[in-house]
Amino acid sequence: MSIKLSTAACLAATSIALATSAAAQPMELRAVMQDMSKNLQAVVDAISREDWNRAAESAARIVSHPQPSDAEKARIITFFGPDMGRFKALDSKSSDAAAQIERSARAARPQEVIDSVARLQTSCLECHQTFRERFINQFYQPDRITRRQ
Ligand code: HEC
Repeated sequence: MSIKLSTAACLAATSIALATSAAAQPMELRAVMQDMSKNLQAVVDAISREDWNRAAESAARIVSHPQPSDAEKARIITFFGPDMGRFKALDSKSSDAAAQIERSARAARPQEVIDSVARLQTSCLECHQTFRERFINQFYQPDRITRRQ
């Protein structure tokens, strides 16, 4: 009984340690994404207030979002290999949609802003559906054996 308990306790401790080590070292891309999400929410809020300046400024921050460090980029490029072109293309698609939001907001054309927000969200979703699971499996669960390389 006491052996069983300590085995269970040990397993629990191991999974906590794994979860903690994964959570303790998020990829820089995660903070970039959280920031993009905040800026997108700010755009949506600005639309409700018909504050086109703020919509344009928040969209501009999505266009020129920060990049992860060169070291992290190298890890991502190595992992995605030949699929990296598609990853970059989806990033450009997001930037283009955000740039369109910015232009439409500066011209105070509400319907165009809203249409471009929809395009932007579609592009975010497309990359998440295509790449997020593989990314998380690779960079947050190093004990997994299903590596691509
Ligand atoms: C080129 C691919 C790509 C595009 C485009 C993209 N994302 Fe992401 N996103 C990712 C990846 C990969 C992750 C997983 C990162 C991680 O968990 O470290 C992610 C994760 C996220 C997360 C979850 C962060 C967390 O705390 O776990 C949010 C929020 C997010 N993205 C928002 C956005 C928004 C908003 C857009 C569009 C404006 C967007 N993303 C566009 C690849 C992309």
